[in-house]
Amino acid sequence: MDRIRIRGGRPLSGEIKVGGAKNAALPLMVAGLLTDQRLILSNVPRLADVQTMTLLLQQHGIAVDPITDDGRNLSLGGAISNTEAPYDIVRKMRASFLVLGPLLARVGEARVSLPGGCGIGARPIDLHLKGLEQLGARIVLEGGYIDARVHGRLKGATSVVPFVSVGATENLLMAASLAEGRTVLANAAREPEIGDLAAGLVAMGARIDGIGSDTLTIDGVDRLHGAEHAIIPDRIETGSYACAAAISGGSVFLRDARLDHLGATVRILREAGVDIVEEPDGLMVKRLNGLHGADVMTEPYPGFPTDMQAQFMVLATRARGQSVITETIFENRYMHVSELSRMGADIHVDGRTSVIRGVKRLTGAKVMASDLRASAALILAGLVAEGTTDVLRVYHLDRGYEKIEKKLQKLGADVKRAKDV
Ligand code: EPZ
Repeated sequence: MDRIRIRGGRPLSGEIKVGGAKNAALPLMVAGLLTDQRLILSNVPRLADVQTMTLLLQQHGIAVDPITDDGRNLSLGGAISNTEAPYDIVRKMRASFLVLGPLLARVGEARVSLPGGCGIGARPIDLHLKGLEQLGARIVLEGGYIDARVHGRLKGATSVVPFVSVGATENLLMAASLAEGRTVLANAAREPEIGDLAAGLVAMGARIDGIGSDTLTIDGVDRLHGAEHAIIPDRIETGSYACAAAISGGSVFLRDARLDHLGATVRILREAGVDIVEEPDGLMVKRLNGLHGADVMTEPYPGFPTDMQAQFMVLATRARGQSVITETIFENRYMHVSELSRMGADIHVDGRTSVIRGVKRLTGAKVMASDLRASAALILAGLVAEGTTDVLRVYHLDRGYEKIEKKLQKLGADVKRAKDV
């Protein structure tokens, strides 16, 4: 297993390119199940999760081939030959569950393993199932698998969910695109990744109204066709590098980053003393005079994203004053706290709320990464800690940050990847 070793204390400066958004690429790859024609996706990030999705789609019968040398443009196409998504793949990556709606819509049946809980919380899938039942699916749980079937086509319906779910919105949006009649998804997630999926589906011939709003109206069509679509830049990678620039006291240009996708992240970072300037082809990020504490509550987009909570917490450990973070999306997303405390951070957690008091210094330590964004946070902490930080179990990181050590090296950080012995 790899570890990442950081010798802290260098301000970052220079330019890096923000890659395609993982959480847009994954559902858009799944959209390849909705047509027997070729779907061409560009700006696909090269990440472990994209490889896992490739494996899943291949075992459903869909060929996924790189069509450029850099592997960022993928061609997807083929006939569905198998409707089972096995436990061994779904347990590794929850986004696998997104095949349920498209398989049902295309071939009327699907058997998809239940994902189970994961490090950051229980993460049920009841909203996905309820929505698909409203569209006419019959769903049975058997042997750890969801067995779903529909006679004929799914039928359009109105679905109002009690709270916002990114994954359920995506599953239902894809299913409804091929359903008979009109579907209205109320209280839909508004994340830019949903907008990107909807744009991809529209390019494939779907009829979707209200993109970007919390009510999506979908008029189902008989079939979808092939299309070309470019994945949006990753707003969480953007925010993570913005935090890195700010805490290290440097100045970094994030090529291709989009301000209009950052939602509350921009406001909070600016409030904390980070200068973010929009330029025609990206964002310039630097620290102003000093960092100040800020209070943050994680919320669905355009609120502050749970996927930025851990990285912001690191910034708060180095800010003047106190910050209060309330995590409202996942019940167990504070696993980085104990590791940050071992590096000298002053953080108190009470349920979903954490109070962070800025400290003069963090010190390097051997720390254990527990999930994707927690891993990124520990790397950020290592960048400002005195001495050496070893982040262990970095396979989490490779799921969502392409070549993070190379990008940080380009910005002048002393970071390298080493094999665990
Ligand atoms: C997506 O997960 C992202 N994953 C997550 O990214 C992200 O943290 C999350 O949205 C919130 O923004 C992908 O896009 C692949 P949800 P998802 O359904 O769709 C509860 C990362 O680091 N819920 O919006 O699984 C759920 O438990 C990750 O890249 C139900 O109760 O999240 C959570 O509390 C990790 N029943 C809340 O809703 C359901 O049926 C929001 O989850 C579905 C969700």
